[in-house]
Amino acid sequence: MSPEECSELVRSARLSRENAYAPYSRYAVGAALLSESGALYRGANVENAAYPTGLCAERVALFSAVASGERRFRGIAVVTQDGGFPCGACRQALAEFGPSLEILVADESEKIRWAGTLSELLPHVFNAESLRSSQRDTPPGLGQ
Ligand code: THU
Repeated sequence: MSPEECSELVRSARLSRENAYAPYSRYAVGAALLSESGALYRGANVENAAYPTGLCAERVALFSAVASGERRFRGIAVVTQDGGFPCGACRQALAEFGPSLEILVADESEKIRWAGTLSELLPHVFNAESLRSSQRDTPPGLGQ
């Protein structure tokens, strides 16, 4: 992404963060995901009184994009108060759509604290290829 695209993505994530529904953790997160088609998808964390029912900002943005027909992405910006990193579950969800996704971790002043790729945040990924390799083998317990 160009510096201008990065700034725009971080700005969108910062604005999305204002919609976070986080009355339990008080930890507001905003995300903005740029598809290869050039469309922008926003997310904010949405919590619930039944805690595990809530969802992270990154996955709200990702699932919204996929539900809109997108499969290929260029980058995602994540904004928290102090530049917190995406959680492991969100890294895994994003990895489904490619390891080269650019990730921008920024704080509430829109300062980028870390920039890199998904594969840097999630090395040795488990993905569809991992399943394919196991399906070539005889399943444990079913061998002759
Ligand atoms: N959260 C996110 O939205 N993204 C992350 O990557 C880390 C955690 C949310 C989930 C929950 O609403 C709050 O932050 C505290 O964990």
